[in-house]
Amino acid sequence: MSHPDNDQPPPKGHADKHDYWLGLAQYLEWIKPPQETDQSRFGTEATISWYNDGILNMAANCLDRHAAQHGDKTALIGVGNDEGQIRNFSYQDLLAEVICAANVLKKMGIRKGDRVAIFLPTIPEAAIFMLACARIGAVHVVLFGGLSSGALEHRLSDANPSLLITLPKAQRGPKTLDFLSIAQEALGRLQGKRPIAILLIHSDGKTDCTATNITFYETLRQSVPTSCPCAAVSATDPLFILYTSGTTGTPKGIVHSTGGYAVWAHHSFARTFVPEADDIFWSTADVGWITGHSYTVYAPLLHGLTTVLFEGMPTYPTYRRWWDIIASLGVTIFYTAPTALRLLSRSHHGHPSKQDTKSLRLLGSVGEPLDAASWNWFHHYVGHSACPVLDTWWQTETGGIMLSPPAENSMENDPHMGLQPPTELEFALLEENGSEIKGTGIGALCLKASWPGQAIGIWGHEDLFRQLYFRTYPGYYLTGDEAERTPKGYYRLLGRIDDVVNISGHRVSSAEIEECLLANDDIRECAAIGVPHELKGQCIALFVVPDREDLTLESVITRIIREIGSYARPDFVEFCHNLPKTSSGKIARSILKQQILHQNNMTK
Ligand code: WT7
Repeated sequence: MSHPDNDQPPPKGHADKHDYWLGLAQYLEWIKPPQETDQSRFGTEATISWYNDGILNMAANCLDRHAAQHGDKTALIGVGNDEGQIRNFSYQDLLAEVICAANVLKKMGIRKGDRVAIFLPTIPEAAIFMLACARIGAVHVVLFGGLSSGALEHRLSDANPSLLITLPKAQRGPKTLDFLSIAQEALGRLQGKRPIAILLIHSDGKTDCTATNITFYETLRQSVPTSCPCAAVSATDPLFILYTSGTTGTPKGIVHSTGGYAVWAHHSFARTFVPEADDIFWSTADVGWITGHSYTVYAPLLHGLTTVLFEGMPTYPTYRRWWDIIASLGVTIFYTAPTALRLLSRSHHGHPSKQDTKSLRLLGSVGEPLDAASWNWFHHYVGHSACPVLDTWWQTETGGIMLSPPAENSMENDPHMGLQPPTELEFALLEENGSEIKGTGIGALCLKASWPGQAIGIWGHEDLFRQLYFRTYPGYYLTGDEAERTPKGYYRLLGRIDDVVNISGHRVSSAEIEECLLANDDIRECAAIGVPHELKGQCIALFVVPDREDLTLESVITRIIREIGSYARPDFVEFCHNLPKTSSGKIARSILKQQILHQNNMTK
């Protein structure tokens, strides 16, 4: 297992680093290759800038160059919610689809720099429209299919797209999701703002488009040309905006650049998975999250591999669904999340046989700490004790994987050894007073220098970007996670140090839930606290001080589901007369946390 990326010597000094970053850029095809690499500055006035004189096109890198070399090779396999629904796209097919979609976008008036919202399940069309945006230099804003209309409204209002792409309905497991109705409800709530047109794919023919702003994709695609040039995009122009929850209030639109992100998606994939040409890579992540962007769509295509997009769930129609997919497609690298492993490992029906998963050679996990029991189960049952397990740590803001065990000797890994920082990244652990911890210890995980995949901003909120990530400890990027450094210099991730709660790999902030509840005047005070949960990793315990006697538990839960999404539904809700306060008058979250842990016999 070797890959040219891994043959490069690790960088040491500054000049060395410049050469190293330039070397990584050479794996991409540039319209104008960059001479510059890192022009970023940390500190209170931080700016992030990579390869700023380079010009490229992401879609050309994912498709055109591979279509020219191996057009018949399968680029993407779409696996539907129900069994037997499989769609194969060769590089040539996918390129043709993307050209068609790009021309339709152009026909609808979309130009370079315009935002296009994509509200779809994890189906081939999601990737096709992401790549179509990239082809014409439009900025995609993928909205997770599990979002509620309230959450959608906030994101649409913030990103201000000209177009929203969706479908009438989709099945997720046994449930029907009303994509179009949710989108229309969100657009209805946006009234008074600039109108957003809807482009509808997979129309069932029942939708009435005369009274509304709906255009049918099937109609438009009949009359577009079969070629579409790739826009020349500056490396520093945004490729996409993706919303994620931070420490404060409403979710933030994290902006990723085109050039730096492409280099990091390509390189981090090469370093972590050391891919081979005939790999079939399956990341189970939904396209609505960063893993879906970087590793379900972009990185495998940048490498000219075959990627799998699965619309459904691991437990539908049976707990064998994933293993059937792996067996029938011959998946070689499988990248998933601890929450699903916990669910499957606890059911007898969820155990694969050796035969099911014999095609696999490498396993990866992301999103939450991979507990030892899940690590062992993953290794023994899914990896038939022969596949290395790579626990990977990264964030929406980092664009790609930042910490993972080394692939070469990863058979010697164990669930407690920690994750190795690559030599090109400058990690630091900080004490609360900002001083650096040398050697072993526990502290706030930070980075001292930028890397190509680093987000370039928060859409429309430049100052907030600096405040959230760069001003707490000037000179450092603050990840928001706490970590322990082992004697070998590896890192064990210990969880967030802020009020971000990780529910089954979905980030939700306490502030987001509290603000949504306080928007009505029937709640005086409330606190949403993250506590451990056996399957989800963490869940929300909610303390509410009602301001009206007729406030019901149901109305509180409904409001959270409507404004944020059902993944944020609290597991514990307690109505109380008042909340404990600190001496400075803030809600004493740690006391509430202890209370709920104690009541439920839980440990941290
Ligand atoms: C947060 C980022 C990166 C893709 C999925 C989540 C937590 C992520 C791990 C891991 C322990 C992890 C961190 C991080 N996290 N991977 N391997 N071990 N914790 O992206 O939604 O931006 O969430 O997820 O707390 O900050 P995200």
